Parts: sequence; C-alpha cells; structure tokens
Amino acid sequence: MSLWLVRGGNVLSGTVTVQGSKNAALPILAATLLVEEPVELTNCPMIRDTENMVKILRSLGCTVKREGDALIVDSRTASDFVLPTALSGELRSSIFLLGSVLSRFQAADAPYPGGCEIGNRPIDLHLLGLKALNAEVEERGGHIRCTGGNLRGAVVDLGYPSVGATENVMLAACRAKGTTTIRNAACEPEIVDLQNFLCACGFRVKGAGTPAIVIDGVKKGHGVSYRVMPDRIVTGTYLLAGAITGGDVTVTGTQPETVDPLLNKLTECGCLVTMRDDSVRVKAPKRVRTVGFTETRPYPGFPTDLQPQLFSLLSVADGTSVVTENVFENRFRHAQELKKMGAINRILDRTAIITGVERLHGASVTAHDLRGGAALVLAGLSAEGETRILYAERIERGYERMDSVIGSLGGSITRKEESIGKEDERRRTGELPV
Ligand code: UD1
Repeated sequence: MSLWLVRGGNVLSGTVTVQGSKNAALPILAATLLVEEPVELTNCPMIRDTENMVKILRSLGCTVKREGDALIVDSRTASDFVLPTALSGELRSSIFLLGSVLSRFQAADAPYPGGCEIGNRPIDLHLLGLKALNAEVEERGGHIRCTGGNLRGAVVDLGYPSVGATENVMLAACRAKGTTTIRNAACEPEIVDLQNFLCACGFRVKGAGTPAIVIDGVKKGHGVSYRVMPDRIVTGTYLLAGAITGGDVTVTGTQPETVDPLLNKLTECGCLVTMRDDSVRVKAPKRVRTVGFTETRPYPGFPTDLQPQLFSLLSVADGTSVVTENVFENRFRHAQELKKMGAINRILDRTAIITGVERLHGASVTAHDLRGGAALVLAGLSAEGETRILYAERIERGYERMDSVIGSLGGSITRKEESIGKEDERRRTGELPV
C-alpha cells in the first residue's frame, strides 16, 4: 500500500506543464492494434493505467518500447485475442480493447472489467454496439467472448452517450465493411483525439465532438507518429489545488477550452481566470465563495472526473453548495473521508449538500478511487497539520509524479510504501469493503 503524507498550509503558486491525457491515451493504445505497423505516441503519460495497458498489449504479443514521454507500439507481432484476467481486472479500460481485438483477430475474449459484476458497472452499450456491427457476443462465467468474422457497418444508437462504448464502436468499425453511424455518441474531447489519431493512420472517421460519428470502413491503416492531447482533468486538478490554498497557479501545455466548465465555476467562486492559447492561470482569493448548484453531465457539462476535487474546494468555501452527480451512481465516497478532516456535508442519494468550513484539519483518510484520492490531496494541502492518505497508489493510476508537481508549486507530499496485512490486501482487491 502506498501512503502519502500531505502537509497543509502552504499557498501554492507557480507554473506547471500538464501531462498527456490518460483517457485519450488508453483508447489510442487500444487502437494501435488496428494498425499493423509501428506507431509512436508522444506525450503519453507515465501512469499506472497506461503501464497496465502496455502490459496487456504485450501479453497479446505486441512489442512496446518506452522512450521518454513516447510509447512505440508495434502490433505486427500481436497474436492473441484473450485479454489477461489479472491485468484487465485492474484496469476498467481493458474493455476498450474489445472492439480493436475483435477487429484484428475476428475474436475477442475479455473478463468483465474492473473485476466487477456487470450490474455494478454495466457494459451493455459496448456490447449493443458490437452486436449491431454483426459480432456474436456470448457472456459466460465472468467472461465476454465476441466473434466477428464478418463485421459490417451499421447504425448504432447508444441511448446514452457512453465514452467507452463510443470509442469501442469506433474501433470495431474502422476496418468493418461499409459505413457505421454512431448516434448519441459521447462528445468528449478524448473522442476527438481518438478520431484525429485514427484519421492520421488512414482510417476514415468524422463527426467526433458531435453526437453523430460516421466511420467508413477501410481495409488497413498505416503507422504514424502522434501526440496525445493534454489531460484536462489533471489541468483542472492542479488549478483547483491552487484555488483551495488561496494560491496563483498556471497550467501550460493544455487546451484551456476543454476545462471551460471548471473555469466558469472558479470565476463564480471569486477566482481570477486568465486564458491564453495553451495555458490557463487561476488566481484565487484567500477563501473562495460558494457556487450554488453544480451538476455533472457528459461533455460539455461539468465533468464527473472533477466533481470530487471541486467537492474539496467547496468544503472550505464561504457558504453552502449543492452538487449533483448524474454520471456515476456511487461517486461520493470522498465525502465521508472529508468529514474526518472536519468537512460538513450531507449526501441525499445523488446530491451532496456541502457547508463550507473555514479550515479543515489533517486526518488519516482513504483514497477509495483515483479522483476521490486527488480530492483528498487537495483537502490535505489546505488543511491544518498533516493528512495521511492510505491506498494512494490509486492516485498514481492517473497522475504522473503528483508529489513532485505539487512540490514544484510549494506544496508538500511525502510518499511512503507501507506493507499491508492480509485483511488490508483483501480490502484493496475489493473482496472486503474499505
Ligand atoms: C470514461 C472515462 C472516465 C469518466 C467517464 C465519464 C476513460 C478511460 N474513462 O469512462 O474517466 O469518468 O468516461 O466521463 O475514458 N454505462 C452504462 N452502460 C454501458 C456503459 C456505461 O450504463 O455500457 C453508464 C455507466 O455506468 C456510467 C455512465 O454510463 O453511469 C457513464 O459511463 P461511460 O461514459 O461509459 O464512462 P467510461 O467510458 O467507463
């Protein structure tokens, strides 16, 4: 288990360059299977989720090399269509490989993602999309087996704009016969990045960023060097880290328009926001004011992946705020942890009522998930005293060297590895509740 000690009280200021986007890199890595030539991906973040995806690609037979911020993937050597259970269990996005593995090998075998039951984390839309493209899908014993010797273009209506399902259908459709139209597609910037990558490889995809994506199947793509887009969630997290400490933080190498919903909130909070071409600066007052009502929505709505971090900021804002989580059912686990630090909040189903306090205090808290963990780091930075974050390795799934980035802004995070007992290990794997 990784334990992070966050020392609170320092005002963060300075400039950081943001890492490449996790949620763009993962489907693009999956897409390399469609390209039977070497592909170079620059600005590919060095985080647990990409490292796990690399392990999965290697287990399928791909050759993958890391050179600085680049990953070079050669999928010519890939030969297996069975996704490894142990690794896929750690990485929900292994499900994104279903479409590309199926397209490449006319078959794909994957465990249910995240080791979860389908009821908890449904993938019905992924499967609906693949079936529409003429794949046969069998669900048995915790595994999904797809076969599709004859993938054909079709109209796929997603019902809900699921990011992963949109990406999976795009990947399966690239080499299918004929034209595929995805209706009600997710509009997230990472979908646009996937389209840009696919087009750079010679595939024919258009419409990403709108609810209608059209893919004309082509037989094969070609190798390319491609730069992954900057991470908008990490951008937002560091801007919020500045804001919660009353600081002045600039994030460069980013696409400011992709964090617009957050910037609107920060302005409403009393921060001064300045946007340039590829950078954004947020100068915060000593204590922000409340923002009334926030609800998470698919893009261009407020992102669910920044809800926990905003929650931390609102926990020390002047006044009462209301946050509704519309995208995921169970995404307020940080609320309980923040209470241990003196926060005042009440959860009513999908809505949180947060009464800001003047100051949080350090406590021993648990990072239940990636963004919830990041929220605790932010809270710890603003709190009085030391915050101990248990299971902080979950934060490393998505943030590259967060301790040194925060350190460069004047914050203090010390990482420690702690050995954990059997019971804790069972908690970590989800066998016991945390
Ligand atoms: C992606 C992002 C994740 C982000 C989320 C929403 C990656 C690797 N992850 O996750 O960081 O929080 O988008 O912006 O890009 N759903 C179904 N059936 C399905 C699929 C999804 O009911 O077949 C539901 C989910 O349970 C959830 C909602 O749709 O309630 C949104 O999920 P989705 O957009 O698919 O998120 P992910 O692609 O898993």
